[in-house]
Amino acid sequence: MVRLVAFLVGVFFSGMLLLGLGDTVITAIKEPAVPTAEHDFYEKPLAVSFAHDGPLGKFDRGQLQRGLKVYSEVCAACHGLSLVSFRNFADLGYSEDEVKAIAKGWKTEVPTINPETGEPATRPAIPADRIPSPFANEVAARAANNNALPPDLSLITKARADGPAYVYSLLLGYREQVGYKNAEGKELLKEFPEAATPPGLNFNPWFATLNIAMAQPISADDQVTYDDGTKATQEQMAKDVSAFLTWTAEPKLENRKSAGWAALGFLIIFTGLAWMSYKTIWAGKKH
Ligand code: HEC
Repeated sequence: MVRLVAFLVGVFFSGMLLLGLGDTVITAIKEPAVPTAEHDFYEKPLAVSFAHDGPLGKFDRGQLQRGLKVYSEVCAACHGLSLVSFRNFADLGYSEDEVKAIAKGWKTEVPTINPETGEPATRPAIPADRIPSPFANEVAARAANNNALPPDLSLITKARADGPAYVYSLLLGYREQVGYKNAEGKELLKEFPEAATPPGLNFNPWFATLNIAMAQPISADDQVTYDDGTKATQEQMAKDVSAFLTWTAEPKLENRKSAGWAALGFLIIFTGLAWMSYKTIWAGKKH
């Protein structure tokens, strides 16, 4: 009797599952997913390699310094780095005096209060300060950016899939929308006339919605002048600032990798020791 009941319950559940499956299949056939412009025209990040890639990768300090230059001269006009302090730039190979000079010369000053009047004021940054946001708050940031909010970039390479490659592709991804075709040769505005970029946005198929509020920040070669003589092509600037933003998101990346190797080495030695003690303990016994 119990067996029969269990069998019937099983049949009932299997039947329900099959019904559900059938229903899904019928809906998928009757009402196929509507193709969207985002689905057909979104581009995956470009292939780009960095010195810090791979299990033995290390940051290229020269590249990080160039990336800081691009960030400070271009991106810092809109984006803050609230999780990074000026003194952290010592990691990029700067001396204490150089860090002081970078902080002192930073375009956005740090908010403070005038001790005499109690009025809000600003003062030059010192190494202990975080990199200030160029806007007083979100309202001010949106007001200056057509109601879009430039995100803090400290963790952006962790917050997006393929972080550094994504930022690199996004910076180089601005295109003319009229006549834009994807790899299959489909023309965007012919297939989806309603996807035309609204005023105030910019077409960029590497951005999830294809239209981004940020105007093309890197738009000409030699936009910054590198101190080490590297030619500042648009690709070079995009790559350097992407590497720099990888460092801001994970300054201890190299320590993580070397700790991994140390752990691996320890495990190999430990395996050898375990094998030797096994041999010693069982040495006197016949198989
Ligand atoms: C004139 C202001 C401005 C400048 C300069 C600027 N940005 Fe932006 N950025 C924005 C705004 C506004 C957004 C928000 C875009 C949106 O949500 O559509 C944004 C968004 C982003 C995003 C996030 C995209 C995402 O997936 O959400 C990244 C990454 C970024 N900017 C990187 C940079 C870098 C790197 C630079 C310097 C080379 C830079 N930006 C310079 C205004 C700016």
